[in-house]
Amino acid sequence: MPDCLSTMCPQTGNAIMYDDKDCPTQEQLTGHKYDGIEEYDNPTPGWWVFLFVASCFYAVFYFVYYHCSLEDRSIHEHYEQALAENLQLQFADIGELSQDVPTLLRLMQDPDLLTVGKSTFKANCVSCHGADGAGLVGPNLTDEQWKNVKSLHDIIHVVNDGAGNGAMPGWKTRLHPNEVVLVSAYVASLRGNNLPGPRPPEGDMIPPWSE
Ligand code: HEC
Repeated sequence: MPDCLSTMCPQTGNAIMYDDKDCPTQEQLTGHKYDGIEEYDNPTPGWWVFLFVASCFYAVFYFVYYHCSLEDRSIHEHYEQALAENLQLQFADIGELSQDVPTLLRLMQDPDLLTVGKSTFKANCVSCHGADGAGLVGPNLTDEQWKNVKSLHDIIHVVNDGAGNGAMPGWKTRLHPNEVVLVSAYVASLRGNNLPGPRPPEGDMIPPWSE
């Protein structure tokens, strides 16, 4: 081993494994010593400190710009806007659906539009009614027994205004009116699947859907 790599540090008395000129002087040590190991005063590089301070300033700017000021700036709002525009596009072809029984009966025969209703159901209802509508917190929607529903029109009513003192939330203000009709048609179409659910059947047997 060359001499310069096996010398004693004059300050610490420890063997040092590097060139003499690298041996820390007293000023370069912090004075912290643990188990014979001394802490070298090795400041964080300037570029790192710069990035740290810059990101602190940026965070303040970001917070004020996106969270405390004018509307329409947060990513959430952009998403909502994009979603609304997308719905408008989808519904441009469909037009305004009336919230009545003949429309439900028509939609129940239209597999494409039932798929749109299904996607609304997946996005908003599965947390309480289960992925296939067999019930969870809310009742089974695939059997013949219904609690708040006697006829097709009651489905639209329950979806719009909720039921069970808010246990079933109302969706009038949260869904597009077309979505209410589409998801109601999808729910009506689930009846008869008779999937086993986690809850006992609730409500009364009701007559088949009719006008
Ligand atoms: C927070 C949980 C929850 C969500 C989310 C939810 N529901 Fe419900 N739903 C319930 C509960 C609970 C009931 C039963 C209310 C009662 O006890 O009268 C219910 C009842 C219903 C009924 C009447 C069932 C019957 O037997 O009378 C329909 C129809 C229905 N929900 C459809 C939907 C649709 C469509 C969605 C999504 C847009 C939805 N629900 C989202 C909890 C929920």
